[in-house]
Amino acid sequence: MTTNLSPSSNTALRPRLATAADRDRLIALVNSAYAIEDFLEGTRTDVERMESSMEKGEILILEDSAGALLGCVYVEFRGPRGYLGMLAVDPARQGSGLAVRLVQAAEDRLRRHGCQAVDISVLSLRPELIPIYRRFGFVETGTEAFAFPRTFKTPMDCHCILMSKAL
Ligand SMILES: CC(C)(COP(=O)(O)OP(=O)(O)OC[C@H]1O[C@@H](n2cnc3c(N)ncnc32)[C@H](O)[C@@H]1OP(=O)(O)O)[C@@H](O)C(=O)NCCC(=O)NCCS
Repeated sequence: MTTNLSPSSNTALRPRLATAADRDRLIALVNSAYAIEDFLEGTRTDVERMESSMEKGEILILEDSAGALLGCVYVEFRGPRGYLGMLAVDPARQGSGLAVRLVQAAEDRLRRHGCQAVDISVLSLRPELIPIYRRFGFVETGTEAFAFPRTFKTPMDCHCILMSKAL
């Protein structure tokens, strides 16, 4: 079933919950956006990891009026806190406010599930992301060790920067 997460928003940008039928094009979109992380082996996601994400949490997607996939974001409900990840916008459509729209939809979703705060984790090798998330209202709260299921092409000093925002 299609869930319109924000009926009052621009009808050309209607975030909805992804379904199993969206899986393969979501994998293509996410891997294309995350190709920028070329210091890591392999791809950001695949069938197994995408299915696991869809079981553990939810993926919100943004499509244009013709149904083309523009972007996505992952949300997970962790009691009073929520987690946001896998934010991805089609490289050809970046820089036009789509991430803002996706993050707003994710925050609305988490609020409706009773979350009072949202957490994210950013790789220290992607310092350009910190000001983007600060603009979204996130602040740095700490660091943790890199523990992704992916390895580096060459050994690198990398950790995760934790950021949070009250909802
Ligand atoms: C990060 C990403 C989701 C941003 O998507 P986007 O649709 O281009 O972002 P928006 O157009 O909504 O811009 C959001 C804000 O960030 C700023 N911004 C976007 N890209 C930026 C960049 N490379 N450097 C600095 N600021 C940037 C914008 O100016 C905007 O701020 P403003 O509203 O004050 O002008 C997109 O670049 C992407 O998919 N990257 C690859 C995947 C990734 O790295 N995801 C995040 C991992 S934690």
